[in-house]
Amino acid sequence: MTLLDHLTAEARLAPDSGISTIIDYGRERPGLIPLWAGEGDLATPDFISNAAIEGLRNGETFYTWQRGIPELRTALADYHGRHFGRDFQPDEFMVTGSGMHAIQLALQATVHAGEEAVYLSPAWPNFPAAAAIAGAKPVPVELEFSDNGWMLDPEKLAAAITPKTRALFVNSPSNPTGWTADRETLKAILDLSRRHGLWIIADEIYALFHYDGQRAPSFFDVMEAEDRVLFVNSFSKNWAMTGWRVGWLRLHPELQQTFENLIQYSNSGVPQFMQRGAAAALDQGDGFVAEQVQRAAQARDLVCRILGDTGRVRLSAPQGAFYLFFAVDGMPDARAAAFEIVDRANVGLAPGTAFGAGGDGYLRLCFHRRLDQLEEAANRLAEWISNR
Ligand SMILES: Cc1ncc(COP(=O)(O)O)c(C=O)c1O
Repeated sequence: MTLLDHLTAEARLAPDSGISTIIDYGRERPGLIPLWAGEGDLATPDFISNAAIEGLRNGETFYTWQRGIPELRTALADYHGRHFGRDFQPDEFMVTGSGMHAIQLALQATVHAGEEAVYLSPAWPNFPAAAAIAGAKPVPVELEFSDNGWMLDPEKLAAAITPKTRALFVNSPSNPTGWTADRETLKAILDLSRRHGLWIIADEIYALFHYDGQRAPSFFDVMEAEDRVLFVNSFSKNWAMTGWRVGWLRLHPELQQTFENLIQYSNSGVPQFMQRGAAAALDQGDGFVAEQVQRAAQARDLVCRILGDTGRVRLSAPQGAFYLFFAVDGMPDARAAAFEIVDRANVGLAPGTAFGAGGDGYLRLCFHRRLDQLEEAANRLAEWISNR
């Protein structure tokens, strides 16, 4: 017996992240262009950092509101009002220690050990891993790839629901595929949730990274107040704050106290000075986000063009988020390819195998980066592809 044997099976069996494995392999390479992680290349802008620094200087170093400081919850309500076209109240929002933390709380509140949570795959691996650690069974429903991009067959989703299903995790726009549900699909999913009494855990953290000139369709567009929808969200992507670890939940105000309790017994709240930074991001950051989305749109077109010109990749320009999930002809083993790409092209990509069912044979490239570097990376990749 080793010490490991005395841990719970759920902890022991938690998978290594296939993304971290390749990052650990290549992170020290001189000149490597890293497109493997889910983040952009810019540090948090000063108007956000300065608000946090000021909070820190003002001695905001004590325990604070578990559900989030009133100013931040008001800023969240205003932000949603601006982007989702209706009124929101501060008591619909709870501040969490990251999007990941919001997901964990949503899972704790909706799915017992032994029950099932359905999600769409290929998927960002953290949701199924968190469900499994909680003793639940994550059930993938595979999206299908065609020349028109990634598609969900709602009948496949309906077929995955069993008497043990409690929640549907819907990430749209999706990491890694960029699949973005249209209103009809959202309505179909909502209808399933109503018919079977299921919670929807809506992960719309990339809603503003949408490339048809408007934010992505949202469950806010189709739901009623009493629907069982929990929104998980994050400051990470929109405002270049991945390292801050701040997120939020949007829920029916009736659920506030319960979620405050769950926050109390997990991270006990987010530092007050960081919440000042988060409030500045919301109140003053619309212009910054718009610039980021505009740059990402150009970046998307650039990589799709350069890789598409090789004539040897299967790709469809993603509708949302900031990833290209593509396959290379004659590349059966994406994991081995990701290592080879580090060695030969000096570019860091995440292997599709890290994203579960349906991800084999694909690579994920994060294009949220300076265009000159991205062009260099895409050219190196195109050369590697052409020389295979
Ligand atoms: C789809 C999706 N949801 C949630 C998150 C979590 O974001 P964070 O924990 O950084 O707030 C990520 C991060 O990559 C993501 O891609």
